[in-house]
Amino acid sequence: MAEAKTLQDSFIDELRDSYDAEKQLLKALPKMAKAASAPQLRSAFEAHLKETRAQVTRLEQAFASIGEQARGKHCDGIAGVIEEGSSIMEEDFDEATMDACLVAAGQRAEHYETAAYGTLVAWARTLGHTDAGDLLQETLDEEKAADEKLSALAESGINQNAADAAPSEANDKPRPRAAAPKEGARGAQQSSRR
Ligand SMILES: [Fe+2]
Repeated sequence: MAEAKTLQDSFIDELRDSYDAEKQLLKALPKMAKAASAPQLRSAFEAHLKETRAQVTRLEQAFASIGEQARGKHCDGIAGVIEEGSSIMEEDFDEATMDACLVAAGQRAEHYETAAYGTLVAWARTLGHTDAGDLLQETLDEEKAADEKLSALAESGINQNAADAAPSEANDKPRPRAAAPKEGARGAQQSSRR
């Protein structure tokens, strides 16, 4: 009979899961950056792409620090989160609404990763893997900062622009649709929805 798996085994499994998750995100983030219209949102995704490359390296260092080969194990969780993000990008949203939805998708990914790294840091410390713990803590802090940056962007205009882009008949009393085409774009955002 096989021996029962230990917390150490599970720690390695979780490292592999995160290693694969980061690699999936390396492919997803450029698509999200491309789909974003607000320049600050686009650069937030691009900045996080750079951070993600460093996070992959940090995971490799964490594997090395415990004498394990860096290896991924398919992360179904982040695959699902990315899949939902892809569906959003296929929707026919106006630019402002798309930006608000991209923030939502990005934050789902950040929260997933924050949960994973929170556990990894705690387990690394409990198992006495000090170096791995420090590396993983660094990444955990980056994920939290990326999440906060997205919240700040959403609250400093992206959500409001999306709300303002709603067709006027959604906010007002019903009126003839013929009036709609006269309404122009508001600010730099396209407000018309086809
Ligand atoms: Fe990450």
